[in-house]
Amino acid sequence: MIARNTALSEFIRAHKAVVDTLPLSPVKTFFDRCHVALSKPGVPITKDISNLQPVCKYIPESLKLASNQGPVLKQLSAKFQSLYQQLPWHPSDRSSDKKSAFYKGHANAVMTGHGGLEEHSSVRFGVSLIAPNIEYPNHQHPPEEGYLVISEGDWRQANGDWFHRKPGDTVHNVPNIWHAMRSGNSPLLAVWMLWTE
Ligand SMILES: [Fe+2]
Repeated sequence: MIARNTALSEFIRAHKAVVDTLPLSPVKTFFDRCHVALSKPGVPITKDISNLQPVCKYIPESLKLASNQGPVLKQLSAKFQSLYQQLPWHPSDRSSDKKSAFYKGHANAVMTGHGGLEEHSSVRFGVSLIAPNIEYPNHQHPPEEGYLVISEGDWRQANGDWFHRKPGDTVHNVPNIWHAMRSGNSPLLAVWMLWTE
C-alpha cells in the first residue's frame, strides 16, 4: 500500500464528509465516483513542491468565513489550514499579463493528479483562490468537473446569468461547458475535482 501525505489524506476525508451531507444530485454522484477512485492512493511526489503566492494571504480569511458554517465545513477548513502551505500554488496559465489584476489576484493548486502532491490517473483534485473583486474568466475543458465552495462567490455557465454560491454549495460542469467565477468583497476559495480517465 502506498502511503498518502497525511494532511492530504485528512483533507480528502473531510471533503468526503461534506459530500456525504449533500442531497442526491448529479454532482453528488460525480463526487462519490471521484472518492471511490481516490480511495486508492496514487503515486506521492517526494520532493517539496510548495509554492505560496502573495494572494495566499487571503486564505485565513476564507477559512474563517467557512468555519462559521457548521461542523463539516469547520472540519474541512481546519484540514485545509494544515495542507495549503504544502501546495504548488500558481497563477493560471490562462493569464499571461503579469501586471493584470487577474494575474495578481488568483492562484490555483493541484492536490492529486498531474502537477500535484500525488499523481493520480482518475481524479485531478485542486483548489482555486480569488482575491476580492476579481473575475476568473471564461474557460472550458473536456473533463467533467465538480466544485465545492469553501468561501462564497458567483459562478456562470454557458454565458448565462451569474449565480451565487455560499460555503458548502456546489457547481457541476458537464464536459466542455464554458464557465467563469468571480469574487465579491471577500475572497473566493473553492475546491474542484476533474475526472481525468
Ligand atoms: Fe473548470
